[in-house]
Amino acid sequence: MDKIIIEGGNPLKGTVKISGAKNAALPAIAACLLTGGWHHLDNVPHLKDIVTIKSIMSKLGVAFRDKKGSLEVNSDNLNSYETPYELVKTMRASILLLGPLLARYGKARISLPGGCAIGARPINLHLKALSAMGVEMFLDQGYINAQADRLKGADIFFDTPTVTGTENIMMAAVTARGQTTLRNAAREPEIQDLINLLRSMGADIKGDGTDTIVINGIESLRPARHTIIPDRIEAGTFMIAATITRGDIEIESCRPQHLGALIEKLESAGAAIKTMGECISIKGPDTIESVDIRTTPFPGFPTDLQAQFMSLMCIAKGWSMIRETVFENRFIHVSELKRMGADIEINGSQALVKGKERLLPAPVMATDLRASASLILAGLAAEGGKTEVHRIYHLDRGYEFLEKKFKNLGATIWREKE
Ligand code: UD1
Repeated sequence: MDKIIIEGGNPLKGTVKISGAKNAALPAIAACLLTGGWHHLDNVPHLKDIVTIKSIMSKLGVAFRDKKGSLEVNSDNLNSYETPYELVKTMRASILLLGPLLARYGKARISLPGGCAIGARPINLHLKALSAMGVEMFLDQGYINAQADRLKGADIFFDTPTVTGTENIMMAAVTARGQTTLRNAAREPEIQDLINLLRSMGADIKGDGTDTIVINGIESLRPARHTIIPDRIEAGTFMIAATITRGDIEIESCRPQHLGALIEKLESAGAAIKTMGECISIKGPDTIESVDIRTTPFPGFPTDLQAQFMSLMCIAKGWSMIRETVFENRFIHVSELKRMGADIEINGSQALVKGKERLLPAPVMATDLRASASLILAGLAAEGGKTEVHRIYHLDRGYEFLEKKFKNLGATIWREKE
């Protein structure tokens, strides 16, 4: 297992290019199950989660061709509809295979994704929607066995907006008989990216950018060519990194319109931000002001940036209240930040952060993907020694070349074997 070591204190300077979005690439690759022929996906990031979904789909008989950041996918020879537990347990997003497998074959046997460090993360809303579309399901040996002759359109209301739930049902609905309406659907940019891909395959979908998506099922789809959107969470992580190190950086290949809530909060914290097309320039302030945040579904403040923003607030002037409303157990980074001298008090879904003048270097343990990123940011800010972030395999699930990108921005950071 690897660890990352950081000697903090250098203000970041220079330019960084953002990779393709993990959370858009995963459903896009899953969507290639919907029809045969070679699909061509550009801007697919090199990440552990992408390797995992490819391994699972390879076991189903799907063929892949990697071509310099592009991925070609062909499901002509699909020969299984069962996803193995050993692979699924490492990545919850494997549930994204359920909708397309049912749409293509009317059958799927998917290992239930296990618990997750950031909460219970149930899939009841995925299953309820599929049941409304005529799918029969039963649980056996930890696997969901699902079957339907041909999916039928349905009017579906999600109790709470679910990102992968919305994606799964969109994929199930594109070739269903009749019309499917998804109400209270998630509106994350990754949903829009999937809509664009499905449309390139020939799907009939309306409701872009809204919480009501209407899909008219069609008989057949065709293979598509699609470019994955830039990763807004990676871009946001670099914006917070620039602010926490009081640096001055340019972020290229990103979509500022996907980062509105973060931009507003970082400006309130004192950062100077300019956006130009697909580029953001950001300069951290001498004094970081404290700001309250509350995570909510898009376009609100993303839960996937909460941990990183908390690291920033640890060295802000004054008190900051951080409310997590999306996941119930997403403060596991707090105990590690405290090892670096942070003053944080948790009360249910709220964390009260009392800004300190500095964070102190320390050995810390990464616990989930975004928590790992928050510890790297804290390490970049902590002066006077080495911060060692252990168990960084979580980081490799979701950040492409992270330490290399930070090194290019002037950080003293490297990876070592444990
Ligand atoms: C996706 C993202 C993840 C992000 C999250 C919220 C991917 C691969 N992952 O996860 O990075 O943190 O959105 O933006 O895109 N819920 C239910 N029942 C369900 C489904 C969800 O109660 O059937 C609840 C969850 O427990 C959570 C909320 O809905 O409280 C939102 O979860 P959801 O949007 O589904 O998260 P994911 O799609 O798993």
